Amino acid sequence: MKAITLLGSTGSIGTQTLDIVAQYPDRFRIVGLAAGRNMAMLAQQIRQFRPEIVAICDREQLPELTQAVADLSPQPIILAGDAGVIEVARYGDAETVVTGIVGCAGLLPTVAAITAGKDIALANKETLIAGGPVVLPLVQQHGVKLLPADSEHSAIFQCLQGVPSGGLRRILLTASGGAFRDWPVEQLESVTVADALKHPNWSMGRKITVDSATLMNKGLEVIEAHYLFGMDYDQIEIVIHPQSIIHSLIELQDTSVLAQLGWPDMRLPLLYALSWPERIYTDWKRLDLVKAGNLTFREPDHQKYPCMQLAYAAGRSGGSMPAVLNAANEQAVALFLDEKIRFLDIARCIESVCDRFTSQNRSTPSLDEILAADRWARQEVIGLTTSIAY
Ligand SMILES: NC(=O)c1ccc[n+]([C@@H]2O[C@H](COP(=O)([O-])OP(=O)(O)OC[C@H]3O[C@@H](n4cnc5c(N)ncnc54)[C@H](OP(=O)(O)O)[C@@H]3O)[C@@H](O)[C@H]2O)c1
Repeated sequence: MKAITLLGSTGSIGTQTLDIVAQYPDRFRIVGLAAGRNMAMLAQQIRQFRPEIVAICDREQLPELTQAVADLSPQPIILAGDAGVIEVARYGDAETVVTGIVGCAGLLPTVAAITAGKDIALANKETLIAGGPVVLPLVQQHGVKLLPADSEHSAIFQCLQGVPSGGLRRILLTASGGAFRDWPVEQLESVTVADALKHPNWSMGRKITVDSATLMNKGLEVIEAHYLFGMDYDQIEIVIHPQSIIHSLIELQDTSVLAQLGWPDMRLPLLYALSWPERIYTDWKRLDLVKAGNLTFREPDHQKYPCMQLAYAAGRSGGSMPAVLNAANEQAVALFLDEKIRFLDIARCIESVCDRFTSQNRSTPSLDEILAADRWARQEVIGLTTSIAY
């Protein structure tokens, strides 16, 4: 029985993780849950999974949450605010913390979990992208495991099982191409939020769905792969694979290429991050190659989607630059979702903010410096976008 704490329990990753826990009650037990502001769903989850501790980030919801579960016995510890989420992350005997919070808000809770000796099932890629220079040494120092739950990185991790150290030559990250993969570039100037939220293959949270439409998600995943697997940026490539059946590939030193395949279903990488190194039997829909039909591939279009190159450049700069790229993206996507800027402004904002940061970047930033860079980048985007007319 593995004890699990789940951060971001009310989101797409969170609810799918709880589906797994509900399906395997003999294998997994929930110790802690944390969410942002969806009080009603969190209360329902507390009833179903009976955690020892919970937190809701939005403090105003605390009285209602406390009231909603007042009849339960035993009562869970109920906390609120960022500090509450951090307390949940480090609490008790949870062996693994699933990080399903969206954005850099996941960084401090993840650091707290690592410091408390917990393994991390990492969905929240922004944490590693922004905090890589701090998170990786902490993982080493505390001897914990960083298990990828992002589908591409899980695919790479699965392919790497049994590959000896030094055997990896190249990583090939597959990308669906996002909502606009078949749209002509001229139409991107006028796309709406609703257009950007129509992902062809995956059902995910709003921020990552927009990241998929700009292909920044793939750029962020390049940086994530660099940190997780220690590969140079020249050895990490992106290939567009519209069917999302091959979740990524690795090339070995002898040119052999290994891939991991499956229907697009996040439960599989989540389950593997929780069960590794074991393989658990599931009754989920099995892959049928004939039904999947053609598997096709094409080169990414860097002119249409500049965010990928911005991410490669930020990754190569290192230090706090990935944190700046990530924060500028988070802020720009939030403004796009609020209809304050246009779709193509997202990349323009990020490029401008990264350019301005170049002279301030330091190669080995502290956690405080990373957080300061994150705050600075968000302010820069806000400053820039007040001058953009929507
Ligand atoms: N969804 C996928 O299929 C997928 C695939 C690969 C990677 N990922 C990564 O997984 C992460 C989560 O994505 P998602 O699609 O699940 O996002 P999502 O559906 O928007 O869910 C985000 C979750 O984070 C919670 N949250 C937000 N801010 C918080 C805070 N400050 N403290 C505590 N909880 C907070 C939200 O709570 P409320 O809803 O209660 O406000 C919600 O539970 C992202 O980093 C994403 O890149 C997702």
